[in-house]
Amino acid sequence: MPDLTGKIAVVTGSSSGIGRAIALRLAASGAKVVVHAGRNQAGADSVCDEILRLGGESQALVCDFRDRDARLRFVAAAWEIWGGVDYWVNNAGADVLTGANRELTFSEKLQLLWQVDVEATIELSREIGRRLRDSQRDAAAIVNIGWDQSERGMEGDSGEMFATTKSAITAFSRSLARTLAPQVRVNVVAPGWIKTSWGETASEIWSQRAIAESLLQRWGTPADIAAAVEFLVSPDSAFITGHVLPVNGGLNHAHLQQRTE
Ligand SMILES: NC(=O)c1ccc[n+]([C@@H]2O[C@H](COP(=O)([O-])OP(=O)(O)OC[C@H]3O[C@@H](n4cnc5c(N)ncnc54)[C@H](OP(=O)(O)O)[C@@H]3O)[C@@H](O)[C@H]2O)c1
Repeated sequence: MPDLTGKIAVVTGSSSGIGRAIALRLAASGAKVVVHAGRNQAGADSVCDEILRLGGESQALVCDFRDRDARLRFVAAAWEIWGGVDYWVNNAGADVLTGANRELTFSEKLQLLWQVDVEATIELSREIGRRLRDSQRDAAAIVNIGWDQSERGMEGDSGEMFATTKSAITAFSRSLARTLAPQVRVNVVAPGWIKTSWGETASEIWSQRAIAESLLQRWGTPADIAAAVEFLVSPDSAFITGHVLPVNGGLNHAHLQQRTE
């Protein structure tokens, strides 16, 4: 594990799932972490409690990213806590697959994903990118979260929604890497099927499909993604920017091909 002592990290959407694992991993490596929740204050507080047990330091902030003005206030508030930021991870994503949002129409789901995943990632990245560059932080990094099948595409409502939104994040991130170089590195982690809230309740058919689509023949875990994010913020990846790193156990093209034949 890299030594991130003295570094300050913000992980959006870290009240559960992948974000929670990222926050815990960065804290275990010594970073102070701003833990963010959209609504789930209790979830964020429990992550902070775990960080405290690890001997680390953290602070919880709640902000609904559907609110445009609140996004900029969130960056300012996160920056204020310890007088700056070194690493910013845009992980927050609207859950349109479980809970009440499952009942929304396709357009409503798309709008929600657009606001929370795409617009918020773009606006938060631009604002923090400007601050990181102007303050000349040493070795600053932004990591955004995409999806491994966004370029290839996937059939159905979920494929159409997630390919559109996650491809937008990836395209934006590649451009931002050019804007912010050489001061700030910007990379994307593109997860495959990761067992979080949707994966826990997925049907047997979907579960088998998730496993078959990975060459390593298993679901991914939040810890798999956290390890990749940590690599991309740490000095171990100092010569990498504008890169998209799929973390999916290797996409099983032969299986995908059979399914569409
Ligand atoms: N799981 C997968 O297979 C997979 C695959 C590819 C990409 N991803 C991406 O990975 C990221 C994390 O996914 P996950 O599976 O860990 O999901 P998750 O457990 O549902 O976590 C989503 C996080 O986003 C936050 N969030 C949701 N709506 C928000 C809003 N309106 N404003 C601010 N924050 C909001 C949630 O906060 P609250 O609950 O506190 O509101 C939560 O902390 C997402 O961007 C997702 O699209 C996941």
